[in-house]
Amino acid sequence: MARIVISGTGVFTPPFSISNEELVLSFNTFVQNFNKEHHEEIASGACQALAESSAEFIERASGIKSRFVMDREGVLDPEVMCPQLPKRDVEERSIQCEISVAAAKEALQRAGKNAEDIDAVIVSCSNMERPYPAIAVEVQEALGISGFAFDMNIACSSATFGIQTAVDSIFRGNARAILMVNPEICSAHLNFRDRDSHFIFGDVCTAMIIEQEEYCSKKDVFEIVGTKLATKYSTNIYNGFGFLNRTRPGQGTEKERLFVQEGRKVFKEVIPIATEVIRNHLTEHNIAPADLKRVWLHQANLNMNQLICKKLLGTEITEDVTPTILDTYANTASAGSIICFHQHHEDFREHDLGVICSFGAGYSVGNIIVRRICL
Ligand code: COA
Repeated sequence: MARIVISGTGVFTPPFSISNEELVLSFNTFVQNFNKEHHEEIASGACQALAESSAEFIERASGIKSRFVMDREGVLDPEVMCPQLPKRDVEERSIQCEISVAAAKEALQRAGKNAEDIDAVIVSCSNMERPYPAIAVEVQEALGISGFAFDMNIACSSATFGIQTAVDSIFRGNARAILMVNPEICSAHLNFRDRDSHFIFGDVCTAMIIEQEEYCSKKDVFEIVGTKLATKYSTNIYNGFGFLNRTRPGQGTEKERLFVQEGRKVFKEVIPIATEVIRNHLTEHNIAPADLKRVWLHQANLNMNQLICKKLLGTEITEDVTPTILDTYANTASAGSIICFHQHHEDFREHDLGVICSFGAGYSVGNIIVRRICL
């Protein structure tokens, strides 16, 4: 059977970064203003005083030290606390298209391919800036790619599910090479006024070229040995934003239309599911966890990755085996494990094995086993 390979990846990193200290300063100013404004209701018990956040808590609870964002000023203004990304004319490129093109150009260059060599585009991410026309079709047009394009979304596992979808399309003969992109503008669905989660996300875009071995012009690539997806319904990570919102005037709150989670439950429930999916998938391929040179894990929480690492590999998390990008990028939904893969694979030699794994809302888990090969 012909092999299917990853021949190039790309990352677009937004130009602005926000440290925990800066984010907490803005949040605590908002809290102090709120408590001052509502001091009478608070004193009478009609309203609860808000508690301040702390940079020390954020780093200890999550491993996050800073995040990249598409807009800094809006996020840090205590009167706004939301990125300000002005509307563009219909004729202009959408923001998600623009960052997809930037990441895609790097992936194409690394794969030694031109846009005309690509047969399809998949844009797979947690939030789309519009339902239609598909962002993927706009990216296709912007790059001058023929063939077909479509959007898909399974939140934090969008990239790994996108990889399997690309592999299936290539395997069926519907495309020879596919561009798969993950434009994650997570700051736009984050509630920066919510103490429990205001620090979680950052923005980024990742891209990957997946193609048939015979069509590939690069020498050192990663064979996709196997893909495994799993889902289990849960509302512990939830976002109620949708096109039916306007049919329910006066119902629901703005808070429900942003990211909401039961962090503790997610932590407890997702770790065993993800570990089992990785372990079973490796067993199907007669691979022992110890055979893996690297595990590019989903980047949501360092403590969570620490536990997965212990359960799977029986070791502490290390930069060499399970690298972390969470400290500088924060949680970038589906893009996290792909940034990790992009930044940490140059030392792979022929036959070295690795795993790209995502887990998150849905719940959803995606596991991709890869092997370095020389064509
Ligand atoms: N600053 C200071 N203290 C805070 C705080 C903040 N911003 N937010 C919460 N706290 C406090 C809480 O009030 C609580 O205090 P208490 O013990 O006195 O009641 C304490 O810190 C612990 O809160 P908790 O919410 O239980 O924290 P946690 O240790 O579970 O960490 C998460 C929170 C969100 C970082 C963690 O649960 C997590 O990452 N879960 C997995 C999330 C995930 O992967 N989601 C996928 C998203 S796509």
